[in-house]
Amino acid sequence: MDSILKAKWIAPASEMGEVCPVFRKCFSLEKKVERAVLQVTALGVYVSDINGTRVGNFVLAPGWTAYQKRLQYQAYDVTELLEKENTLSVTVGKGWYRGRLPGWKSTKQEALQKNPAGMLASLEILYVDGSSETIYTDESWNVQESQIRFSEIYDGETCDASFKTTVEGPVSLFEGPTETLIPQQGEEVREQERVSPCRIFTTPAGETVVDFGQEITGYVELSVDAPAGSEILLSHAEVMDQQGNFYTENYRSAKAKLQYFCREGKQVYKPQFTYFGFRYIRVDRFPGGPEAAKPENFTAVAVYSHMKRTGYLRSSNPLLNRLFENVVWGQRGNFLDVPTDCPQRDERLGWTGDAQVFIRTAALNFDVEKFFTKWLADMEADQGEDGFVGHVIPNMIDDPESSAAWADAATICPWEIYLAYGNPSILRNQFSCMKKWLHYIAVHTKEDYLWIGGNHFGDWLGLDAPSGSYKGSSNEDFIASAFYAHSTELVVKAGRVLGEDVSQYEELYSNIVNAFRKRFPVYHTQTECVLAAHFHLAEDCQAAADQLAGLVREAGTQLRTGFVGTPYLLHVLSEYGYTELAYSLLLREKYPSWLYPVTKGATTIWEHWDGIMEDGGFWSSDMNSYNHYAYGAVADWVYCVAAGIQTQEEHPGYEKAVIAPHPDARLGWLEAVVETRHGRIRSRWEREGDVWRYEIETPVESRICIDGREHTVPAGRYLYYSPCC
Ligand code: BGC
Repeated sequence: MDSILKAKWIAPASEMGEVCPVFRKCFSLEKKVERAVLQVTALGVYVSDINGTRVGNFVLAPGWTAYQKRLQYQAYDVTELLEKENTLSVTVGKGWYRGRLPGWKSTKQEALQKNPAGMLASLEILYVDGSSETIYTDESWNVQESQIRFSEIYDGETCDASFKTTVEGPVSLFEGPTETLIPQQGEEVREQERVSPCRIFTTPAGETVVDFGQEITGYVELSVDAPAGSEILLSHAEVMDQQGNFYTENYRSAKAKLQYFCREGKQVYKPQFTYFGFRYIRVDRFPGGPEAAKPENFTAVAVYSHMKRTGYLRSSNPLLNRLFENVVWGQRGNFLDVPTDCPQRDERLGWTGDAQVFIRTAALNFDVEKFFTKWLADMEADQGEDGFVGHVIPNMIDDPESSAAWADAATICPWEIYLAYGNPSILRNQFSCMKKWLHYIAVHTKEDYLWIGGNHFGDWLGLDAPSGSYKGSSNEDFIASAFYAHSTELVVKAGRVLGEDVSQYEELYSNIVNAFRKRFPVYHTQTECVLAAHFHLAEDCQAAADQLAGLVREAGTQLRTGFVGTPYLLHVLSEYGYTELAYSLLLREKYPSWLYPVTKGATTIWEHWDGIMEDGGFWSSDMNSYNHYAYGAVADWVYCVAAGIQTQEEHPGYEKAVIAPHPDARLGWLEAVVETRHGRIRSRWEREGDVWRYEIETPVESRICIDGREHTVPAGRYLYYSPCC
């Protein structure tokens, strides 16, 4: 049994208000230690140290889970930190558990917030002589006020490094969660890149602003030499406004401030229990005045889940390369223990729709198997009896209704993870959740075999939205029914992999397709065409794709799609003979397009195609994130179609691959690399005069398709040429 399960939950015996408590235990060790393991968790987020040295690298531990059902604890090898006389300290902040998120009313979160700043730990010590002992949290611990006077995910942190106390208070025991404790399941959240300022400047409003040149998620590390008690106050922003002034309105109610009171002399500080999404900071207060701030005082530290980078894209087009970078930064900035919509405003929630839209790209850029295994387990934990899947996971939103294309993450995400890594255990873990999701639709629809009625997000942010609406004009029943078909198809596929009897779902699927064809014989929008063809619901998919190509051209070679249609748009075009048109959309630089934000200086993916409009104005002030990864889903088309690297459904995880590149004369060359579980696949094409030269490197038997010719080849490196138009 894990020793933490025998520990007792402790909390400060008296109220500390906004101040983060630090729990302490002093102990002496007489014998030589062979090995020592510290297990810890908290109702909030914690940092522990032994004799002043931080334990582990996990930022914002114990991470964010469906706390009512699952609370992770971490185990750290602390053998090297122990001495004869020891002090073990654990500081606890509100974190996601007791913070004020989301930025609107949530009875679920209000219930969590009522919990005390609780902590649970055990330190198991094994001596060289074979004996052992364990120190548990109990009434023998004491608690003090820490220097962290305030900390919250949205609002930021206040630290007073000049604060000192010798007052030790008692702890009280309380009945904290025990049944729900689980060992760490996800990736650790860690500090990753460190970014130095590229410039400090004064805005027209006279404010001092530091530009890091890259939007990141994390915090600023301060390095100053200052008198005790002097104050540093920083505000965070993603963009400057039309006049070149510091702009924070799009953070909505998230205050996102960092406040630090110095101790005497040289010092380094970074926040412990909060994070920000930002590219710029405004120096509001600084020793000697904001103008005294120097670049060397600030380093931006990116913080996100520790995922292994696996995918790389490069081309002859610098704007496209910046787009690829932005997609990767978008993922870094939003894969912070759960896949969040954005890292800056008063949301930062695990929106299911965004996650399913982006998952294929996510699994190419980074190894996200472990990351999604944890998040999907939270989805299952939060699933309703009737199969309800929340808009966000962990679910703290009160809305009891599921939305199509958002809740379908329940089937899409496990399937994509299986395809990317070839490990059926994700399907086994999620199969019941997947089936229950279909049940939800069946009991909530107004018509059998379709999903009619309900409240949906539609083709969220589609450009064909009627004025004043966030929802594109694609029919919501159409979208809901199309995803019902898709989810059912995925349950069939998953069930077959698992050796389950899926006859009932096969029948359901063919009934849905028939009903869909009768009910929706014609399509009115780009997204409707995309879904009909991509999910193979149209009687004539080629005709649906032809119509799509027509609509795109009629719109002036422009996309009109939102969250639902965009990820599949280029796939449908290229699958049905419109690869050139797909490239036209990819390479378009004017609004609306993927490259338009790049021309406006974007360093991450924007929530809106025109987050900053051509005249420099903003799309809106309340729903305008500059780090929303969803539209970055286009990268999967570049990997899978332009460079042509695909896994085969019968040999998932690239056990066998298909490599079918599609060059375009508007690019001189393109290269994609994917580090698969079986080794590195590389596909590169380059124009050499009037021929295309393809270099392909594969670690597995692969089917290589070039210019309509197919060869099955063993692992190796290959060179091909084909005529260039
Ligand atoms: C989020 C989205 C999300 C949407 C649902 C927004 O506030 O930021 O990305 O999917 O709500 O409609």
